[in-house]
Amino acid sequence: MSDEDADATVEGVVAAVRDRVDPAAEERARLREVADRLIERAETAATELCADADVLQVGSTARNTWISGDRDIDIFVRFPPELDRDTLEEYGLEVGHATLPDGHEEYAEHPYVKGEVEGFDIDVVPCFRLESAPEIRSAVDRTPFHTQYLEQRLDDDLAGDVRITKQFLKGIGVYGSDLRTRGFSGYLTELLVCEYGGFRSLLEAAADWHPPVDLDPDSHGRASFDDPLVVIDPTDPERNVAAVCATENVARFQHYARAFLSTPQIDYFEAETPEPLTNPALSEHLERRETTPVAVRFDAPDLVEDQLYPQLYKSLDGITNGLDDRGFDVFRTTTFADETAVVFAELSVSERPAVERHEGPPIHVRDHAAGFYDAYVDDLEAYGPFIEGDRYVTERPRSFTTAREFLESDRLFDVGLGAHVETALEDGYEVLVDDEIAALLDEFGTELAAYYDPRP
Ligand code: UTP
Ligand code: MN
Repeated sequence: MSDEDADATVEGVVAAVRDRVDPAAEERARLREVADRLIERAETAATELCADADVLQVGSTARNTWISGDRDIDIFVRFPPELDRDTLEEYGLEVGHATLPDGHEEYAEHPYVKGEVEGFDIDVVPCFRLESAPEIRSAVDRTPFHTQYLEQRLDDDLAGDVRITKQFLKGIGVYGSDLRTRGFSGYLTELLVCEYGGFRSLLEAAADWHPPVDLDPDSHGRASFDDPLVVIDPTDPERNVAAVCATENVARFQHYARAFLSTPQIDYFEAETPEPLTNPALSEHLERRETTPVAVRFDAPDLVEDQLYPQLYKSLDGITNGLDDRGFDVFRTTTFADETAVVFAELSVSERPAVERHEGPPIHVRDHAAGFYDAYVDDLEAYGPFIEGDRYVTERPRSFTTAREFLESDRLFDVGLGAHVETALEDGYEVLVDDEIAALLDEFGTELAAYYDPRP
């Protein structure tokens, strides 16, 4: 902390952030102009196909909660619910292409058209116009209800506080409901700011949260969820808006809420990327820690992040369990991806003796015990059976005495892996152990820097 902001106050820091995140009049006007032009184009195309269609802008640019520099305009084209799904998709794409002649098709729950116009990222998404959100047929049908609900509750002050809160969440690395981040979505942020009445009061409340935190802005008082943060969707009581928010990210938000309130600093609003780890610095960590890092490295499957990361997380869990089950105690893990993808585990035990204990049933379970005894009594490779307490025990040769042997074996494919990760591994992978992980520094220097300098 530099001297000049030694006496910074929450208000002072927030005012400085406000200057940066509030779009200037000119920026707003440019966005408005582009949005209006595209909405008109979409309306013309949509009503030509279906007289009953209408077009609306949704998301943060419709609610005045977007941050300066953010460039996405979400345009929804609503069709009457009588339309069948295939026709909806067909019309939706037609309107999308008419609105964005240079656009391309992407696929979420429905296909839709995405394109760039004067530096803005535009989505043209078809959905059904329904009476209420619980009737929805796909997630996008819900979105117009969010805008409707928030438009009634967000005034200029609260919208300003939403922008501050989004920047804070970005700064501490928890903004976004994508499956890589598993953090706070824009809509969730808006609901939280409304619920607590502003940025500061949200932080003060979060500093004292005791998860599970149950919020029910519209007092539906129904469904119960098994998540650390529960915010019942005011437009759809069956849904927890914070469902994807990981336990770590709720805790992280609490930590930084406390930190910022006790020492207000603008740094909290700026995401920092560490300097890439150098080879000598890595060696120093390895020597100091005396753990054994192991890495499984393969070509990253060609998937969007929302598909790739869940598969990496699943594979990380699977490989961690596979190591732990074989006596290679896992100390800490991570996974990262770029051109290649890596499942990384730091082990506190990476070598085991040639034999392992194998416990049989208690002697009094007669059939099982006899079966166990018969199976091992003539086994020349195993020691025993002998008795410990009320059980038979043998000591038999271990399949893998080093973590590397296990990771290089076909048994790696028995652990739970993401489907595309499994295919990628079948095409070949590399196992790096100990200082061999230096080979990762070129591609993953910043990730390894963060790993070896962990912070909240
Ligand atoms: P965005 O992801 O663009 O969020 O989704 P946003 O609210 O506009 O926030 P920023 O400022 O761009 O980050 C647009 C709308 O789609 C719905 C929400 O209503 C959101 O406002 N949505 C999005 C969901 O319902 N669930 C999601 O997971 C994502
Ligand atoms: Mn948006």
